[in-house]
Order: sequence, then structure tokens, then C-alpha cells
Amino acid sequence: MKEVDVSIIKEIGIVGAGVMGPSIAELFAIFGASYDFSIVVYDISPTQLEKAKSRIDIDFTKVSSTGLFSSSDLEIARNRIQLETDINSFADSHLIIEAVPEKLDLKLKVFKELDKLTSPTTILATNSSGLSVTKIATVTNRPTLCIGTHFMNPPLLMPLVEVVKGHQTSDQTVQTIMELLSNVNKRPVLVKKDIPGYVHNRLQAALFREVMHLLDEDVINVSDLETTVRYGLGLRLPIMKVFEMVDFMGLDTIQNVLTYLYPALNRSILPPDFLREMIEAGNLGVKSGKGFHDYSRQDILASMKQKEAATFQLLMMMQQYD
Ligand SMILES: NC(=O)c1ccc[n+]([C@@H]2O[C@H](COP(=O)([O-])OP(=O)(O)OC[C@H]3O[C@@H](n4cnc5c(N)ncnc54)[C@H](O)[C@@H]3O)[C@@H](O)[C@H]2O)c1
Repeated sequence: MKEVDVSIIKEIGIVGAGVMGPSIAELFAIFGASYDFSIVVYDISPTQLEKAKSRIDIDFTKVSSTGLFSSSDLEIARNRIQLETDINSFADSHLIIEAVPEKLDLKLKVFKELDKLTSPTTILATNSSGLSVTKIATVTNRPTLCIGTHFMNPPLLMPLVEVVKGHQTSDQTVQTIMELLSNVNKRPVLVKKDIPGYVHNRLQAALFREVMHLLDEDVINVSDLETTVRYGLGLRLPIMKVFEMVDFMGLDTIQNVLTYLYPALNRSILPPDFLREMIEAGNLGVKSGKGFHDYSRQDILASMKQKEAATFQLLMMMQQYD
């Protein structure tokens, strides 16, 4: 079977118009101007599509306010995105990115449907946060064309995308997707082995495990823990790479430290009991108004907007240290 190289990809389908799908569509519409992409976003829920439409309008206004694009370019980009409730709108897609909820059964169902519906050369990508790409590909007749594209939230702003190679994903599919993502200004990384959580979420989970353990052991309180992460490690990371940090510390010093520290680190295989107790008490985080911090008096939307603007500025600054 002839495989698709990056120059062929013009029609891009996205399944799921929730948090991730619309922003992935915006990315290809805005940064793909010279590639003439057309993007179809499909969702089973018309309500979700309505919400997606308003969200895309808001995001385009935000992008316009950066002054990086002319209003005529943005208007053309906006018109590249079509919202659809009919899955048959995907029939001509060269690439489809699935962004439905993180439930394996649902992803299997969607991939099976897409496999039947699309040309046998269409690449099928999953935006899963950590499910097995290999497993998802088993329900299709094209495992060589199935791949993971794990975007960070929000995809339009966050540069990192983990490109996850399933056991049978072909090298050509990997190359096509890596090139495509580079062409739209992303920083794709190749995850060569399809392991749970891929790479980014494993690193995040390692940090979460240790901070929750330190709280559980009453070593430090939440406020001081936040200060430790933000003004220690957190301040270094935008400017120094991890292995650069190791090089500056000295590999011999690091070896000495890790030799006594590794055995002392938390190795539990379950989240701590206090997390379950917080959940049972209704403290779910931002969505319930309280988690480790209190959000009941915060304007969450305004705060998100401010954080996105700050992330954009930080990103501009970080690029000097690449
Ligand atoms: N939200 C994040 O921060 C984030 C970050 C990285 C990766 N992801 C991953 O991206 C994927 C999507 O996450 P999300 O947060 O956008 O989910 P979401 O729940 O916000 O949106 C999912 C959308 O899929 C639609 N949907 C459900 N079943 C469908 C079907 N059979 N056909 C078409 N549409 C269907 C829903 O109506 C909904 O609009 C998940 O795999 C998630 O793990 C999410």
C-alpha cells in the first residue's frame, strides 16, 4: 500500500470537539496557511459543536490581539475550519486525529468506525494521554498508519507534541507526522516505545507522587511545597535543560546523591489515601471550587486567560535558551 507523505496532507479531520479538538483545529488552520489545509471537526454532540464554535471565535480574537497575524490571514484561517455532526464528512481526509474522552472502549469504537469510513491510506492518530496506540490500532486494517499525537493543553499554544510509535506504526507514518507537526510550529518528540503514559505524563506523575508523599508524611505544607517547586526546580527548568543541569552539577556528584536518595524516594503503586478522602469530601479542584487550593472566589476564566498570556511570554523568552 502506498503511504502518505507530508505533501499529500491537505484535508485533516478531528473527532471530538471538547477541550482539545477545537484547539488542534485552530493550530492547523492558523499555522498551516502555506499548506492550504482544510479542517473538519466532528462531534456526536451538536451542543459540543456549538460550544466549540464560540470557543474558536474567542481563541481567534486572542490570537488577533497578539498582532502576529493580519486580520485577513486570520479570516482565511477561520474559514478553513468546518464543524460537522456527520461523520461521513471525513471520507476525504488524509489524516484524522481522534480527541474523544480517554476511555479505551470508546477509542476502539471510533477507530473501527474510521477504518471503515476512510480511504485505506488515511493516517489515523489518537490524542490519547497515555493509552496504548498499539492496542487501539488492532481494531483497524491499517496498523502501520495508526499513531499517537499527544498534544498538550491548549494545543494552539503549547509547543510539545509526543508522537507515539505503536508496535506496527511504519517509519513513513512517523516521518510524515513529525514533519507535519514541525511545519505548524510544534516541537514534536518521537516516543519510540508505546508505554503507558508515554513520556511527559510519566514525568508529571513522578513529581505528583513525590509531592503527595511529602504531604502525606507531613514533611512540609502545601504552601511551602509550592514555593520549593516554583522557586527552585521550576525557575531553573525554563532556562536550563535537565541533562544540562546534571552536567553543571557534575555526574560524579549526581551519582553520589542519587545513590543515597533513590532508596528514600516514594515507590508506592497507588495514590495516597488522603487523595481519595479529599475526593469523597467533594474537593475535586477547580471544577468544585476547592482542591489543594481554594478557587471559590476566583474568576477562573480570567485567570486562565492571564496564565495563557504569561505562558506565551515565557515561551518567547525560553526560545533564547534552546
Ligand atoms: N483536556 C486535556 O487537558 C488533555 C490534554 C492532553 C490530552 N488529552 C486527551 O485528549 C483526548 C480528548 O480530551 P478532551 O479533554 O478534549 O475531552 P472532552 O471530554 O473535553 O471532549 C471529548 C469530546 O468527544 C466527543 N465525543 C464523545 N464520543 C464521541 C464519538 N463517539 N464520536 C465523536 N465525538 C465524540 C464529546 O461529545 C466531547 O465533545 C483524551 O484522550 C484526553 O486524554 C486531554
